[in-house]
Amino acid sequence: MRDMPVTVLGFGAMGRARHVSYPNVAKYYGDTPINPYVAQGFVLPHEADAARKLGWDVNLDMMDAIKNDKSEYVDICLPNALHHSAALAAIEAKKHVFCEKPLALTVAEAREMTEAAEACPGLLNSVNFIYRRVPANVFARKVVQENWFGKLLEARSYYNQSWGGPGTGGGWRFDAKAGGGTLADLGSHAIDMLYFVTGMRPSEVSAAQVAHVKERMFSVTKEDGTQAREPRKIEVDDGTRVVYFLPNGGIGSLECTRNAPGTYNTQGYEFYFEDGAIKWSYDDVNYLWIFESKERARGWRRVLCNDGGYTYCHFGGGHMDGYRDFLTSQCYENMRAIEGMDNLAPIATFRDAYEVERTCEAIRRSHRERRWVKLDEID
Ligand SMILES: NC(=O)c1ccc[n+]([C@@H]2O[C@H](COP(=O)([O-])OP(=O)(O)OC[C@H]3O[C@@H](n4cnc5c(N)ncnc54)[C@H](O)[C@@H]3O)[C@@H](O)[C@H]2O)c1
Repeated sequence: MRDMPVTVLGFGAMGRARHVSYPNVAKYYGDTPINPYVAQGFVLPHEADAARKLGWDVNLDMMDAIKNDKSEYVDICLPNALHHSAALAAIEAKKHVFCEKPLALTVAEAREMTEAAEACPGLLNSVNFIYRRVPANVFARKVVQENWFGKLLEARSYYNQSWGGPGTGGGWRFDAKAGGGTLADLGSHAIDMLYFVTGMRPSEVSAAQVAHVKERMFSVTKEDGTQAREPRKIEVDDGTRVVYFLPNGGIGSLECTRNAPGTYNTQGYEFYFEDGAIKWSYDDVNYLWIFESKERARGWRRVLCNDGGYTYCHFGGGHMDGYRDFLTSQCYENMRAIEGMDNLAPIATFRDAYEVERTCEAIRRSHRERRWVKLDEID
């Protein structure tokens, strides 16, 4: 096992989560080929003291943090608009790159990042579509790959949260030039999960998007350096609803919103096949529900999937997994990929995330132009 110095960019929820996950890779997985550790962190000036208290070697210059020789691997935990410049700089510096989702704000940016990454085959390019690390989803994928139930006829995906009501101020997630709205934030996960489990992406979409709150208060830094609050018009979606065709002739729907009171991180899917069905919800994250039409005693079966037989298992079957376990598993899979080992379940590459961007753009175009949009139209 060799050590791998990592640079983490950003000290928000995801940046701090890395502080937990990287040191745990070797603790969770005895066979890890590489032991990653956080060698350096880029943070904003007001975050520096807190980062140092966690033991980070703090760097306030993002480009220097990416390019200097303190690390071999850059982990991008920044607002979405910064993923593009950070990833391109890291690839140019010949570093492995792990990027938060969504990969970029536009299809053009995502394509440029993907092409740059694929021009360097020795470097990792991985995107944190983390729900691929949930054992129940890995099992769902196996059910489809082994064709247990025949053709997928109908699909339903959802990713809903509750925090985006009128009283919520405008952070970068509500800024079209920094975040890209709810579809980019939540819908991107659901689009990737459809592909991960079923192997299919929508071929044609029809969508409606809405901004329930037309104006929000944003914090701004004035010319004299003081902070103020100012109202700004909102140009991104609070909620999105999509219907789509699949390449096999099946149909599906997708919904995402931050305006569903009582649903804090409620995401999931229901996939209906010719001879059965599967469904999963993050609210019951360790279980996959399965229905087999041909059984004589038909009924939904709730299958516990973290007993070690499905994929990731850390502390013995039935010791329930949560977000920090999935992130540790993702970091472990990144190390396996760098070492040239097969992943236990495929990681999302930049190309996978570029395909998600194409679907998001088709959805936005459908809403803007009030028409069905074929994915072939988006390149
Ligand atoms: N995969 C997942 O499950 C998941 C979950 C949450 C967030 N995310 C993604 O992770 C990324 C970060 O999200 P977060 O929740 O940690 O955000 P956050 O707002 O909590 O933190 C963002 C951090 O980026 C840095 N930053 C902010 N503005 C900056 C600027 N203008 N210039 C340079 N650095 C700046 C700061 O260190 C800040 O703390 C986003 O792309 C988000 O979509 C992914």
